[in-house]
Amino acid sequence: MASRAGTEVRDTRGRPLRDLRISVTDRCNFRCPYCMPRELFGPDHAFLPRSELLTYDEIGRVVRAFAATGVTKVRLTGGEPLLRRDLSVLVGIVAGTEGVADVALTTNGSLLAAQAEALKTAGLRRVTVSLDSLDPDVFQQMADTKIRLDAVLDGIAAARDAGLGPVKLNAVLRRGVNDDGLLELVDYAREGGHVLRVIEFMDVGETNGWLPDEVVPAAEVLARVQAVHPMEPVGRSERGEVAERWRFLDGSGEFGLITSVTKPFCGDCTRARLSAVGELYTCLFASTGTDLRAVLRGGADDDALYEAVAGRWRVRDDNYSEVRGQQPTPPKPEMSFLGG
Ligand code: GTP
Ligand code: 5AD
Ligand code: SF4
Ligand code: SF4
Repeated sequence: MASRAGTEVRDTRGRPLRDLRISVTDRCNFRCPYCMPRELFGPDHAFLPRSELLTYDEIGRVVRAFAATGVTKVRLTGGEPLLRRDLSVLVGIVAGTEGVADVALTTNGSLLAAQAEALKTAGLRRVTVSLDSLDPDVFQQMADTKIRLDAVLDGIAAARDAGLGPVKLNAVLRRGVNDDGLLELVDYAREGGHVLRVIEFMDVGETNGWLPDEVVPAAEVLARVQAVHPMEPVGRSERGEVAERWRFLDGSGEFGLITSVTKPFCGDCTRARLSAVGELYTCLFASTGTDLRAVLRGGADDDALYEAVAGRWRVRDDNYSEVRGQQPTPPKPEMSFLGG
C-alpha cells in the first residue's frame, strides 16, 4: 500500500480526498439542543456499547488507508472526543502515520484543561473549541449542562498555553437565543489571541428542530462585526477550507464565517467522515455510510481496505448544501454520531 502514498483519488465532481474527520465516540457531557436535545438524548438513550466502536488500532489502520488516498489532514471529533479514554494515545497513532501532516481536535473544551499538555506532546497540532456564549446563563441554555462556562474557558487557555493555538472558537448563533452575545465573543477572541468562527445553524440530523428563521445569515453577522471592527478578506489558504476568513485591520487577528446555509461550499468539499462505528460518510448530510468496520473485522488486508475507501470516494457525488430543500431526503444521522 505504501507505494500509493499521496496518489490522488477524485470523486465524480473532480474533488480530491484530503481531510478525514473521525468521530471517536457518540457520547457527550453537553446536551446542546441544536445537536443532542435532552428529550431525545436523555437517561434512557442507548449510546453505543464499547464493542461497537472502532479500537485505536482499527482507527490507525483506517487512517493509513486514507493517507494512501491523499488525506493529509485528520480531525478527531465526536460527540465529545475527550470522553474517550486516553485520547492522546490515538493522537500519537494518527500523528505518526506517514502522509498525515496535520492532526486537529474539535471539542467542547470542558475536559481540555487537564489534557492539553499531553495532547500536544502526543502530536496534536491544533484545537477547535465550541463556544456559543460568554454569558453563564446563556451558555447554560445553549449547552444544557451543569458544567460551568469557566471550565471551558480554562480549557481554551490551557490549549493556548500548551502551544495548540491559535485556538479556533466555533460559535453557532441562534436568533433570539445567543445572537446578541456576538460582539462579546469577538472581543474575547481578539483579546485572547484566538480565532472566532461563526457557524450558521444547520439542519444536521433529524432531531434538532431546525427552522430557517433561527439561522442568522453570515452576511448579517459580518455587517455587525464590521460596524465595530473593520476587517478585510483573507484569501482562502487552501482548497477545501470551510471558513470564509477575515482579518481585523488593527492587526488583532482573524475572524471566520462558516456559511453552509446561505453560501454553500460543496464545490470544494474534500472531506470524508468516519463515524464512531467505522462507517465512511462522504457528506455531513448523507443518510448512509460505507461499513469499513465490517471490512476491517472481516480480515481484509491493507489493499482491500484502501480499495474500499478509494472506490467509495470515486463514485461520490454529494452536494447537499447546494440543493438543500429542493427534494425530500431520507433520514440523516445525528452529528454526534457522525462527527461535527
Ligand atoms: P480546519 O480547516 O482544519 O481548521 O477545520 P475546519 O475549518 O473544518 O473547522 P471545524 O472542523 O471546526 O469545522 C467547523 C464547522 O464547520 C464544523 O463543526 C461544522 O459545523 C462545519 N463544517 C465542517 N465541515 C463541513 C462540511 O463538510 N459541510 C458542512 N455543511 N459543514 C461543515
Ligand atoms: N449547526 C451548526 N453547527 C453545529 N454544530 C453542532 N450542531 C450544529 C448544527 N446543527 C457545531 C458545534 C461544534 C461543531 C462540532 O459543530 O457547535 O462547534
Ligand atoms: Fe456535545 Fe458538541 Fe453536540 Fe454540543 S455540539 S452536544 S458539545 S457534541
Ligand atoms: Fe461537503 Fe456535504 Fe458539506 Fe457539501 S454539504 S460541503 S458535500 S459535507
